[in-house]
Amino acid sequence: MVNVAILGFGTVGSGVAEVLTGHENSIARKADGLIRLKYILDVRDFPDSPFAGKFVKDFAVIENDPEVDIVVETIGGAKAALDFTRRALEAGKSVVTSNKELVASHGYELTQLAREKGVCYLFEASVGGGIPIIRPLSQCLAANEILEIYGILNGTTNYILTRMIRTGLTFDAALQEAQDNGYAERDPSADVEGHDACRKICILAAIAFGRHIYPEQVPTQGITGVTLADVDYAESAGKKIKLLGRAIRREDGRVCAYVAPHLVDQSNPLAGVEDVFNGISVRGDAIGDVMFYGRGAGKLPTASAVVADVIDVARNMGSRKALSWEPGGEDTACGTDDLASRWYVRAKASVDGLRAALPDCKLLARRESGGEESACITAQELTRAELEEKLAGLEQHSLIRVLD
Ligand code: HSE
Repeated sequence: MVNVAILGFGTVGSGVAEVLTGHENSIARKADGLIRLKYILDVRDFPDSPFAGKFVKDFAVIENDPEVDIVVETIGGAKAALDFTRRALEAGKSVVTSNKELVASHGYELTQLAREKGVCYLFEASVGGGIPIIRPLSQCLAANEILEIYGILNGTTNYILTRMIRTGLTFDAALQEAQDNGYAERDPSADVEGHDACRKICILAAIAFGRHIYPEQVPTQGITGVTLADVDYAESAGKKIKLLGRAIRREDGRVCAYVAPHLVDQSNPLAGVEDVFNGISVRGDAIGDVMFYGRGAGKLPTASAVVADVIDVARNMGSRKALSWEPGGEDTACGTDDLASRWYVRAKASVDGLRAALPDCKLLARRESGGEESACITAQELTRAELEEKLAGLEQHSLIRVLD
């Protein structure tokens, strides 16, 4: 019998409790033995919950109970979650988490600690919700030199963009829907400002390139600046606007990682990734391109990945299964200063004004043009600085990279 304690009875934690207990028999078969949910830690009271008898408020109860083998951390954030994770690992318990903030900021330290203690620290649910990506990247693609990873890593923003594109819903109304569906973070600015996608690309980059990339090293732009006009202009060019996290291995060994909205051509499979779904594309030197697709957020999809990690630990009790990588440093990541691309440009300018700045650009048309602005896609690949120099005479422009 393997005993589990869940920390945090929010959306994901309650989903884990439901899946663990609801699928008890089939999980027992897969784990070669029963997995029992022994405790749930939460500061709140849940008198009407079917798990009412399992709640505790003091982490020490779990820490000091030698029967607890696996701690599932679904508190989120990097404060109490970090303290409890360290203490659980120190106490010789394996930890499974969906907490991308913690893994992105402290993954190196925590995987090292798990190794030292001979236990597991697993975090399949931290990227892509229910999509298997951490294990495929670290195991199934292990023979490859990974060249690039890019994808739609945040379900909430993809949901918002899809609703704006399909139904013309405002940003705020679409965000409210995402929150009602339990997709958004407690503080939705982490989603819409791109920080959630940033943490996820840091985790993927660490596994793919073997060095810790810290969120502070990753230029991050969310979708709050994307307007219905941009969505409409993109549509006229046969493209969709998607928030992408991207990590590219450079020849000098550094990793160029960033998060930003992009115009994605409708022929690219990522353009068809809609609603809360995520899509992650990995390019390896032997396999070429491979893509992962599925539900990137939500209670049960995320619980599916967490419980799979619990089963993995239970099946391999006594053997260490901690992913690991090298520590990060100033020389590990580079910004996007020298990353050239084609650009979508919307400016408060006449068509002639825009053409004067960018003579070879492809002008875009909108169904309902306000007449005071114009938009185009540049013909050449330019760095941001080169583009801004060309646009120096124009006021108020919005710039979005084109994914080619
Ligand atoms: N808020 C996150 C998202 C949850 O929308 O993708 C899953 O990590």
